[in-house]
Amino acid sequence: MTHAVTLLAPAKINLALAVTGKRADGYHELRSVFATIDLADRVRVAPYRRLVVRLVPDVGAPPGGELADRAVHAMAQAARRDPGAFVHVRKRIPVAAGLGGGSSDAGAVLRALATIWQRPDLDLVALAATLGSDVPFFASGARVALVSGRGERVEALTGLAPTHIVIVRLGARLATADVFAALRSEDRQADGAVDALLHGFAQHAVSPQLLRDNARNDLLGAAERLCPAVADARSRAAEHGIALALSGSGPTLFAVADDHRHALRTARALRRIGLAARVHTLGG
Ligand code: C5P
Repeated sequence: MTHAVTLLAPAKINLALAVTGKRADGYHELRSVFATIDLADRVRVAPYRRLVVRLVPDVGAPPGGELADRAVHAMAQAARRDPGAFVHVRKRIPVAAGLGGGSSDAGAVLRALATIWQRPDLDLVALAATLGSDVPFFASGARVALVSGRGERVEALTGLAPTHIVIVRLGARLATADVFAALRSEDRQADGAVDALLHGFAQHAVSPQLLRDNARNDLLGAAERLCPAVADARSRAAEHGIALALSGSGPTLFAVADDHRHALRTARALRRIGLAARVHTLGG
């Protein structure tokens, strides 16, 4: 009998994100290169007679914040069991930031329950797609992947060397649905950047420069329109020669560095202009 399983649930950034179409169900078709980073929630799942989900610290009710709860229900239904589990999430990933925190927690819950209930046969990526568009990536366990469709197709990518990045957190929260709703057709420009990244992975030639050149996100315009702090931070960083890219639907921004020293220097320069910048690594 497996007792409790504890997993790290990493945050992600979108190295590039292209919106390629709108679907009849209101969702958008995407092509995005996702990568985990070394910032993670810790998720502990234990068998229990009923369902309890506890987030510490209590981050309030973020949009989609009930995802861990829904993950237990989806998994229980697939496994034909009662949804009994005690889920404890130690939150470190900021909420509604474009870092996929809630989705990563849900992915970790699915993986933990597959172990506890001894159901390696269940298709966790397909189950994850019923919970949210970012969850399949996390359920897959990939560190880097091309994610497409609504988010349900995940193809792992290999060959990313340890890469330092600087993450800039803005105080604001953005709801993904609002950002997609503010998207304009002229915003759609990042498909070529996704192709360039995929080419780099296929050629085993992914450099910081390639990542910087192709850090394009079709949701940037919409995020800037909804959250002026995004445009403000990017233009102030640009005055110091630092290009900040948007992760997911924002408002978190990132810059890819050449190496650790460059990352530290970049973070210091950003902090001097009042931005909350921290060094992280990709693929964590
Ligand atoms: O799937 P998820 O619940 O994370 O999506 C949140 C919202 O973001 C959706 O309700 C939808 O408005 C928008 N969305 C979209 N196309 C996607 C993913 C999300 O339009 N591929």
